[in-house]
Formats: sequence, structure tokens, C-alpha cells
Amino acid sequence: MGTTDSGVFVLDGDDVQVIVDARSAEVPRIVHWGRPLGLDADGLRTFADASVPQIASNSVDSPVPFSIVPDASRGWNGAPGVEGHRAGSDFALQLSLRSAALDTASDPRVAARLVVDLVDDDLAVSAHLLLDVLHSGLVRSRLSVRNDGTAPYTVDAVRLGLPVPTRATEVLDFAGRHMREAQAQRHALTVGTHAREGRHGRTGHDASLLYAVGTAGFGFRRGEVWAAQTAWSGNHRTFVERQTNGRTILGGEEILLPGEVVLAAGEEYETPWIYGSYGRGIDEVGTRFHRHLRARSRHRATVRPVVLNTWEAVYFDHEPGAVFDLASSAAAVGVERFVLDDGWFLGRRSKQAGLGDWTVDRTIWPDGLRPLADHVRGLGMEFGLWFEPEMINPDSDAARSHPEWILGAGHRNPPTSRYQQVLDLQNPEAYAHVRDAIAGHVRELDLAFIKWDHNRDLIDAGREGGRAAVHGQTLAFYRLLDDLHAEFPDLEIESCSSGGARSDLEVLERSDRIWASDCIDAHERQRIDLWTGVTVPPELLGSHIGSDVAHATGRRHRLSYRAMTALMSNLGIEWDLREASEDDLEALRGWVDLYKQLRPLLHNGDVVRSDHPDPSLSIRGVVAPDRGDAVFSIAAVATGVGAPPGAVTLPGLDPTALYDVRSAAPADGVLQYNGHPLPAWWASGIRTTGEALGHAGVQLPALAPDNAVLIRATRVQEVR
Ligand code: GLA
Repeated sequence: MGTTDSGVFVLDGDDVQVIVDARSAEVPRIVHWGRPLGLDADGLRTFADASVPQIASNSVDSPVPFSIVPDASRGWNGAPGVEGHRAGSDFALQLSLRSAALDTASDPRVAARLVVDLVDDDLAVSAHLLLDVLHSGLVRSRLSVRNDGTAPYTVDAVRLGLPVPTRATEVLDFAGRHMREAQAQRHALTVGTHAREGRHGRTGHDASLLYAVGTAGFGFRRGEVWAAQTAWSGNHRTFVERQTNGRTILGGEEILLPGEVVLAAGEEYETPWIYGSYGRGIDEVGTRFHRHLRARSRHRATVRPVVLNTWEAVYFDHEPGAVFDLASSAAAVGVERFVLDDGWFLGRRSKQAGLGDWTVDRTIWPDGLRPLADHVRGLGMEFGLWFEPEMINPDSDAARSHPEWILGAGHRNPPTSRYQQVLDLQNPEAYAHVRDAIAGHVRELDLAFIKWDHNRDLIDAGREGGRAAVHGQTLAFYRLLDDLHAEFPDLEIESCSSGGARSDLEVLERSDRIWASDCIDAHERQRIDLWTGVTVPPELLGSHIGSDVAHATGRRHRLSYRAMTALMSNLGIEWDLREASEDDLEALRGWVDLYKQLRPLLHNGDVVRSDHPDPSLSIRGVVAPDRGDAVFSIAAVATGVGAPPGAVTLPGLDPTALYDVRSAAPADGVLQYNGHPLPAWWASGIRTTGEALGHAGVQLPALAPDNAVLIRATRVQEVR
């Protein structure tokens, strides 16, 4: 809900408030982002007045505004909001307020929208700002910059920021690489700029999709946290800038390459959405992202199917008989969607050839893929297929006949990566080639699902004789997805990019699942899925049970650990089941059944995590919206500081309710010492209150490293 009183705007979402002061002729200032302050109209004006800072020593002679679009022309000497010029002139932009008003949005997720029009008449540049507070409590903004003059206007950078208070003293952001995404790093928030940049032409394995600052020692359930995400699948930067005048700004921007955006008369450049999430603890920050994604118009209300993906089962070795058998084994353990990964199209016997030639390789699949699709559907499963639409191998018919389809600087081709180049999606012929090929297969095979991959960085990505093209390529990628969705509304898309290198909020507007990592090792996935899962809810996060020896690392894990790790998300299997023993297959069937029982809870509830002092324990749970049911996964990712570890708390339950608490799955990694019994409650469960579970906890049995337990808490009756 939004309200205004004489130019002070209040935008409310779920337990979050943004207050904007638009009373002057300058760019409006955000004077509050955090909990609702409960101020009346008088109180708001007083609060806005009181939030104007003192003029600093040796500063400009009027208070420096701390505006949504940081305003260098009025003395803001941090990174400016808009950097641009006309052939080297007209750099000194000064935007002034033309209008600010509340408006409605077509997106029903928006609780309150402020629309601000800004203009610099001298430079003939105007800007249009949207600032939304969403029902989820997320905040987001985006700016369009327009050239109102006649000469071209070059846009170098457009940054948007949200204010964070000085009591935020720590940063939590994420690094990563192929097969090791979402690696948390923490450090002090000190004076200066700390930024995370992605120049991969895709979101990147190292993208900090959660960029959080907070009060000292903030954790999952403690402290205050202000987090941002630059929702963009191309080059981007997210930053926090602390100045020496009491101001700190948390912001984001698209990184524009030299000359990438030059606006002709009347043209506009629009930034990505920069999202902010405020919460008490990381859990609340994450819940806001989850609620937002669950409210997408394309969010699937249907149960999320158990997937079998062929990649680590057969790789490029597509022998039809083997793939048919794999499908039969998959159906027998309860798989609901069979996905044929890389290797099915012309010349694709290895990574070195074939991308771009999206016709079925008849030397491998002499009758095409229709018989396999029919076999899969005959077994009661959906059929899905892998594509890497934005790529082209130099060794392909497409590249041989259309060398001009390769993105490059003009005078040389970029270095190959994974033996491939990037297809220029802004070239209408190349776009139509790939769009029509995908659409043809969707129609012909009645595909339910596409795994959409993107396996290299963009390097020297230019077109038309040397114009930087990452911005346009990113928009063309979105357009391609939108086109396909318009024609095939039921087709589901998984966003994969060498694992988790394209998992941002903007691609999630157009996809139904992400592939979080090419590393299926449960030990690594405990951490990757935990942290990726702060912004991505479990039903959108693909996690698979691999073979007993993880292909990425060589570690060997029990099936129970692999299964308990994967089933907390959207469960899949990526294992050559033809090699699995009868015992394994029977146990696997049991885990698939358990997932099917749990998924209504897992895929609709609130994700909670516990701040346990022993870093060897990874504790995640999902609590039903009415708090009547919950499941917790507790994994030992190393030997414990304590063995037994002592009590673990199970957070998020209704403190006043009585719960039945018990182990919900075979716990073969529990350690029993010298024949002595496990904690008294373990064998038969316990009845106790949510308060007791959340505050005091239950004694956990000792766990061998790389093992897990699942605990279910079910409300039995209200107490008090
Ligand atoms: C990428 C994906 C994998 C697999 C291969 C196929 O690495 O992340 O899951 O699809 O490509 O080449």
C-alpha cells in the first residue's frame, strides 16, 4: 500500500516500509528502508525533516542529498547515479524532479509503486524511475534514461541505490566457480566501496545473488540484514559504499561496455531491476525472495516432478538401447520426467562439435527421438530435452555456412571456450534459426521440458564491426524465452549455465527451475544448495542423487546422504541406474516415495536454518505456512567439534503448539558408541512444544561426517 502527504511517500509491504521524501525540486531521497515506523502524517514530515544530515566540514554549503539516483551535481561524491555524455560533452547531468506519484502496476506482486519523472532541460536528458515495494516485502527499483536531444547520448553507467544504516557493519557476499557455486565470504563493512562484478556476459558462477550487509554477527535468525540483488543475466555489479559522512549505500547496476549504449534522439536505456530485501536474520531476507518467486504468474502450482537426467549416466554415449533401458529403470523407481541431456544432435559426439545444428543425429538415433519420447510417455513420464541455444561450435554446419553469426570484435574471433563460440542472437537470421529449431522439436516431440544451457563466458562479444553486444544479447535471450513461452505456455524451462551460472531473479521470471551446480557431490551440495536456496525456493532448485562415487570429486557417499541432500529441493537422479544394485534400486524407490510425500510441505513452506555454533552441522528445515508440519535436514559435513554434538534447535515452529517429533528417514550415519543407546527420544520420538524445540532444542545423536538425518515435527494439539 502506498500513501502520500505533501510529498512524503510511504510504501508498505509485508512488515517492511520505505519512506521517500519528494518535497524538494531535487531527486527524491529514500529516508527509510526497514521495519514499519508507525508514523502519522505529522510524524512522517518531522521524520523526513530530521533525516536531512548536517553539512559536513569542508563540504558543499547545502546538505548533500542521499537520493535514489545518487546525484553528483549536488555534491554526492560517491559513485554517481548516471554517467553519460555527448561525444565528450554534456557530462554534468543534474536531474530535477518533474513529478512523483503513486501508481498501480500490472504486476499483482506490487504492493505500492512510486513513479518519479526527472529531467535535465539543459542537457536534454530525462529519466523515469519506478520504485516498488512488493507484497513479499522486497523492494526494487529501475530507471529509464532518455535522450531528449538530437545528438546521440552515450550512457556509461546507471546505478541505483538503497540506504543502509551505519549499524550495518558486516558484509556477507558470495563467490564461486564452476562446480563450487555460492561460497559465502564475510568481512567488515568499512569505509570505501566493496563491489562484486561479473563480466562473464552471463550471470556467472561467482555472482553474488545475495549481497548482504548487517549488524554485527548477523546470522540466519539473528541480527538485521539488508540485502541486494542486481537481477540481470549479463554483466553486472553489486556494491556497498560507505562514506565518511555517515552514509552507506547498497546498490547495483548493469556494467556497460565501452560505447555499448548510445541513445539516438528519443531512445531510452532501461536498467535491470535492483532488488532489496530487509529482514531480521537471513531467513527472513530469504523468505521474501521465495514469496516473490512463488507469486510469479508462471509459477507452477503442480507438484514438482522427480527428474532423471541422462548426463552423468551416459554423457555423450547415446546408444538408444541403453537410453531406453535407463528410462525403464527410471520409471520403475518412480521418476516422473525423463530428460535427454547433451549428445542427441548432429555431429555431437563430444564437446567439440555440433552446437548450432539442432537436428537429431540420425547416425545415433536412426528413427529420430520420437520412439524414445513415446517410450518415456508410455512409462508414464514426461519427456524433456537439452539445448544450448545461444552457442555454436566452429565445427558445425551452422558455423560453416554462417560465420557471421558468431559474436566477435569484428577483426578477430574470440578464443573458443569449451570449443564453442557465442551465437549472435541480435542477428535476425540466427535468432530465427535457433527459435524455429527449438519450436519444431517442442511440437514434434511434445516436449514438456527444456534444459536450457549456456556453457561459456562472453569474450569480446561484439557485432556490426565492433560494437559491444552483451547488453543486446542479454535482452535477445530474454526475448527468445518470451517468444517460446508465448507459443508454448506449458513448456517448462530449466536455467542451467555450466551448473549454476544463470540463477538470477530476471531469468527466474522466465524459467521453472535452476540447475544449481555441475557438482552433485552431496558434501558440496549441502553448502551450495543451502546458500543458493536463500534466494531460490526449494521447488525451483534442481538437486540430484548421483552415483555412489561423485563424478566431480571422487568422494563416495551413502545413498541416504545423497538422497537426504537432494530431496530438500526439486529431486532428481543423475546416475546410471543400470549399474545400481537391486538393494540400491529398492532403497532409491523408498527415497523417491518419501520425497513425494514431503514435497507439498517442502515446496510451499518457509525455509528456516539454524545458527549452530559447530560449523560441521548444516541445519535446514521447511515449515508449513500454518506451522502445523515441518521437516528438518541435519547434515554433518565434517567431524563435529562435539560428538555427540549436544542439542540442536529446530526453528520456525509455533511456540505454543505441541509437536510430535521423530526421525523421518533411515539414519544409517548415526554413530552409536560401545553399544550404548542413542538419545532417549530418538527411537520412538518425543512430544514437546515449538518453544522447547526452537529455544532449547533436542539432543542430536552423533553423526559420522558426510551423513544426515531427517526430522519431522507434526503439530498434535494446541497447548495453553
Ligand atoms: C553443462 C551442464 C551439464 C550438462 C553439460 C552437457 O556442463 O551444466 O549439466 O548438461 O553441460 O554438455
